[in-house]
Amino acid sequence: MDEMSEPLRGKRIIVGVSGGIAAYKAPLLVRLLVKAGAEVTCAVTEHALQFVTELTLETVSQHRVYSQLFDRSNPHSTEHISLKDWGDALVLAPATANIIGKMANGIADDALSTLLLSFRKPLFVCPAMNTQMLESPAYRRNADRLRADGVHFVDSTSGQLACGTTGDGRMAEPENIVAQMVKQLQVEQDFHGKKILITAGPTYEKIDSVRFIGNFSTGKMGFALAEELAERGAQVHLVAGPTHLTTQHPNIERIDVHSACEMYDAATSRFPSCQAAILTAAVADFRPEHQADHKIKKQNDHDGMTLQLVQNPDILATLGAMKQAGQLLVGFALETDNELENAQKKLTKKNLDFIVLNSLHDAGAGFGYDTNKVTIIDRQGNVTPGTLKSKRAVAKDIADKIIQQP
Ligand code: CTP
Repeated sequence: MDEMSEPLRGKRIIVGVSGGIAAYKAPLLVRLLVKAGAEVTCAVTEHALQFVTELTLETVSQHRVYSQLFDRSNPHSTEHISLKDWGDALVLAPATANIIGKMANGIADDALSTLLLSFRKPLFVCPAMNTQMLESPAYRRNADRLRADGVHFVDSTSGQLACGTTGDGRMAEPENIVAQMVKQLQVEQDFHGKKILITAGPTYEKIDSVRFIGNFSTGKMGFALAEELAERGAQVHLVAGPTHLTTQHPNIERIDVHSACEMYDAATSRFPSCQAAILTAAVADFRPEHQADHKIKKQNDHDGMTLQLVQNPDILATLGAMKQAGQLLVGFALETDNELENAQKKLTKKNLDFIVLNSLHDAGAGFGYDTNKVTIIDRQGNVTPGTLKSKRAVAKDIADKIIQQP
């Protein structure tokens, strides 16, 4: 059998089934996954077994069904740890509003939800519920949270629902679920075995016990890069300044820091063991010379205040000086005037392999947006202007450029 007819050959997939009417389609999904070459085990909730039997799922998967947290006759029960290690991916179909709520809030009160909480590999969720539930603020909050955690959603479609109404909320067809899984799971592991350092987000420079100097960076570009590289097999050290963003991928080791000096220590100590570093962080160039450990009070009603600042270390320039043969260094540049020329100067001065020039002039690009527009300038003098695209798509372009470097 070739890769075309068995695109999931060699993959072990856990099919999670929760208690909705669409559970009757779970055996078909299992069959299609087996046909695509995967080895499949099912994990079900008690309510799922109201709609589909264990015998059916065991027959189509040729594996025992995991349904009880404490069942000593089943090798996978009480050992959700071993099942989570066994699976290369997990697809939850159907995913009820209830189990999505539990996942989003870390609740583990039965066999399936316990497994979901401990699972750290690609996770696909196929929601199925009535339209009112789908549109409820609570469901949306939970789904958004899971998406931010890196869960892949195979969205529901519109059609006739079990409750007799017509609207959005029908589980995606098993054929479409498999197609989406194949697309995602076939991502080329071209960064396998590579360690990559990424800095992301702003830095906060402490003034006193309640105040700091910061900037508007959110960290989205750096986090998108971390996800992209991790999914392509890299081990990522993500040194992150203060941000609300979350990471889910098991290949990402996140190191949270506050100040430029902390970021400097975290980055310089890790760089020697890495094949590449990409510095996206908006590092504060200056910090207060003195940091008060109490709240600074006004002296009197009229006087202003002068804050003496000193320069922070330049992390990128330091890594440029440390760089050894075989290591690759990528910087970002944020310029308002003479953009290309200044970016080119930074590339040479900081000993970079290429630099990513952020555009501040385009709507939808820069701090806080989910999209970005960049120009990549390399050591050989190639200038590649990009179009406005998602930060994840920009991350892909940067990863592709790294792989292509001589
Ligand atoms: N950078 C860094 N450490 C610093 C300052 C910047 O690692 N102390 C990195 C950023 O992460 C980015 C690159 O240097 O990859 C360029 O940052 P930018 O703010 O555009 O330039 P600066 O070098 O700070 O120069 P200037 O502010 O004068 O333009």
